[in-house]
Amino acid sequence: MSPAAPLVEARGVTRVLAGAVPVTLVADIDLAIGRGELTAITGPSGSGKSSLLYLLGLLDLPTTGEVLIDGRETSAMAENERAEFRLATLGFVFQFHFLLPEFSACDNIMIPMRRLGRLDAAARRERAESILASLGLAEHGHKRPDQLSGGQRQRVAVARALANDPPLILADEPTGSLDSQSSEQVFDILKTLVERDGRTVVAVTHDLDLADRMHRRIHLVDGRITEDRPAGGRASPGPTISPAGRRGAGPPADAADQRLP
Ligand SMILES: Nc1ncnc2c1ncn2[C@@H]1O[C@H](COP(=O)(O)OP(=O)(O)OP(=O)(O)O)[C@@H](O)[C@H]1O
Ligand SMILES: [Mg+2]
Repeated sequence: MSPAAPLVEARGVTRVLAGAVPVTLVADIDLAIGRGELTAITGPSGSGKSSLLYLLGLLDLPTTGEVLIDGRETSAMAENERAEFRLATLGFVFQFHFLLPEFSACDNIMIPMRRLGRLDAAARRERAESILASLGLAEHGHKRPDQLSGGQRQRVAVARALANDPPLILADEPTGSLDSQSSEQVFDILKTLVERDGRTVVAVTHDLDLADRMHRRIHLVDGRITEDRPAGGRASPGPTISPAGRRGAGPPADAADQRLP
């Protein structure tokens, strides 16, 4: 991975849905997010937060502009190359867990590993169990989603996002349907992924208190960034990346030793 590049970058990204009346989801988005940053995306309903997250996560393609991940241009990738790159580099957490109901928690976590095809069956299971344990779910791997609480299900969804050890986690309202205690647990996990493991988390949230506990807040109105500023949640001086891609200090030196499995 190239040391100088921001982990995720949007350059002049606009997404327009074609139709009799074209709909602009986001327009002229320029941003650069570095490793070890915990970024909130906020804005009114319909302002384009999910649309932006899907573009940054390569689930959608810009009409114009470019999304770069770790310095790599993604628009020219062939479909299967983009899919593999996504599997290895990005983890998604949505408001609703989207776990497969007929599979156990452990099996759900192994699905992205099987798709990527880098681990054999025994190693996949071992890794899934180890991720579950690291998120306080060691006893729950055999349960189906309907046998778990909402907070546990969302933690399994986070575990699934970590399956292939991606540097970047994108979350769309990850605490939006949780009670306050579960919401706090999930937020703490996301923060730990950043501050202990040096991952990058970008999370859409309606919760302004939560947004203010992150490192940075990007605010959207009508598909455009109206504000991009530090938030109050940085524990200690860490990486800062300007839209021009200047890089500050990296994650803590010991981050690699303490990574989740
Ligand atoms: N498939 C679609 N067809 C037409 N319009 C769409 C489509 N998808 C999104 N939009 C519109 O694009 C705009 C941005 O939607 P988006 O889902 O990104 O907003 P959001 O900020 O995530 O909102 P929320 O907070 O309600 O989740 C909205 O006005 C929405 O109605
Ligand atoms: Mg949304």
